[in-house]
Amino acid sequence: MTETDETETTVVPDGGDPQEAIDAQGERRREELDDRIFEHNAGDEQEGIPFVGAGPGNPRLLTVAGKELLEESDLVVHAGSLVNSELLEEYCDHATLVNSVGKDLEELIPLMRDAYEGGENVVRLHSGDPAIYGAALEQMDALEHEGVPTHFVPGVTSAFAASATLRTQLTLNEVSNHVAFTRPQGKTLTEEEDHISEFVGMGDVTSCIYLGTHAVRETMDRLLEDGHDPETPVGVIYHASWPDEDVIVGTVGDIAEKVEEAGYRASAMVVIGDAVTGAGYERSFLYGDWANRSSSGSSGETEASDD
Ligand SMILES: C[S@@+](CC[C@H](N)C(=O)[O-])C[C@H]1O[C@@H](n2cnc3c(N)ncnc32)[C@H](O)[C@@H]1O
Repeated sequence: MTETDETETTVVPDGGDPQEAIDAQGERRREELDDRIFEHNAGDEQEGIPFVGAGPGNPRLLTVAGKELLEESDLVVHAGSLVNSELLEEYCDHATLVNSVGKDLEELIPLMRDAYEGGENVVRLHSGDPAIYGAALEQMDALEHEGVPTHFVPGVTSAFAASATLRTQLTLNEVSNHVAFTRPQGKTLTEEEDHISEFVGMGDVTSCIYLGTHAVRETMDRLLEDGHDPETPVGVIYHASWPDEDVIVGTVGDIAEKVEEAGYRASAMVVIGDAVTGAGYERSFLYGDWANRSSSGSSGETEASDD
């Protein structure tokens, strides 16, 4: 395993302009669906560069597909400190590692394209699941536009590691019927695009806040200003599934102080809602009335069986 840094990586940005490629791919997508949608499922082996979800941190939470791809890789472009180095050491010991943090598309696309066209097995490794705040599609579109096929390999998103750590469910009968994967206002979202207060106001939504560790105080202040119950449970899980995982449990009224005391400014999942404690739920329809229904007329798979 060799870790390159910017001084060691010589990439000449050539080929197309990534923005033009993204626009062109977006236009294509509007006009016709990609045939591969109907030809492959998410666990299939596919040609091209896989965009793999590394999971939340613990190498055991990487999928089998992800592990196999990393073990066969020659070049791994990874999401820096969000990917546990233990995972890289365990599965990529023969590959060249490139940290994508601080590199723009103009640098990343030719790097991956040239390695792939040169016959290398290239893996783009995102933290958690690449479909959640991963900015994967723009890289995939830019690569596809240059003739390099790509595909997603899902991973365990950090909200799921956080709920497992909290020993709760994000949806829970009579407590939470919905889950919001969300982020607070800041450089990317405007005040109007920050919907955390609306989700909390709905009462039966568990809000999982990504990219919000540095803004716990501001977020809680806004919730209090908007009149939400200060006793609403909040869990902050720093580095869920990592060896230094830390769990802080509190309420909208006191969590900011607790997080500030702990000193976390990044890499935590903030979960808001009654599901955090798991208290007050009712047994489900699935293992109650539905299980005891008359078997006549039931024919295998139903929506209720997915509850
Ligand atoms: C750029 S987003 C990437 C999310 C990632 N794609 C996922 O599915 O988890 C980074 C944010 O995810 C959250 N995050 C990622 N890994 C985490 C972990 N192991 N524990 C807690 N939060 C994590 C943090 O909120 C962090 O700011």
